[in-house]
Amino acid sequence: MLDSVQLHDLTFTPYLSARQIQERVQELGRQIAEDYAGKRPLFIGILNGAFLFMADLARACPIEADFAFVRLSSYEGTSSTGSVKTMIGLREPVEGRHLILVEDIIDTGQTLHAFLPELARQKPASVKVAALLSKPQARKVAFEAEYTGFEIPNEFVVGYGLDYNELGRNLPDIYSLAASTLP
Ligand code: HPA
Ligand code: MG
Repeated sequence: MLDSVQLHDLTFTPYLSARQIQERVQELGRQIAEDYAGKRPLFIGILNGAFLFMADLARACPIEADFAFVRLSSYEGTSSTGSVKTMIGLREPVEGRHLILVEDIIDTGQTLHAFLPELARQKPASVKVAALLSKPQARKVAFEAEYTGFEIPNEFVVGYGLDYNELGRNLPDIYSLAASTLP
């Protein structure tokens, strides 16, 4: 893990190591495998942030399953815009399917809060959410994922899929915005 990471104008410091992340993802994968054995769930990864989490979670969950990605972004820079865009890119019919939405982070909760009813209208058999990270203090609407990797304070983080203005997604570890560099 690097001592610090510079992305654009900001400096980030170590927060969760790749090893910590991998251990937790393995646990989540085993849990989901237990809960969904014989059900052939459809994992829906939310791009771009969930691409690494989805890849590792898929390998940690050795059951029959389908995998798809959608795009659904409502975030720019380091603060939520609050504008919720709709889901694009899902070709698979979801009616009657057990869906597991895979998210990098639950922050204000608004994105999924607005989007889940839209998905429910397509009559899936069930919908659960797996989020690598959750910031409970940032919630604007009540929302909890059924599977959460780590609860973290309300600080901006990057790495393992999470970006700061599109940089940092490919870092294997997660870094947090150092307090001293806050504007
Ligand atoms: N980092 C990157 N993207 C985000 C965050 C964060 O802390 N919260 C919501 N989207
Ligand atoms: Mg982002």
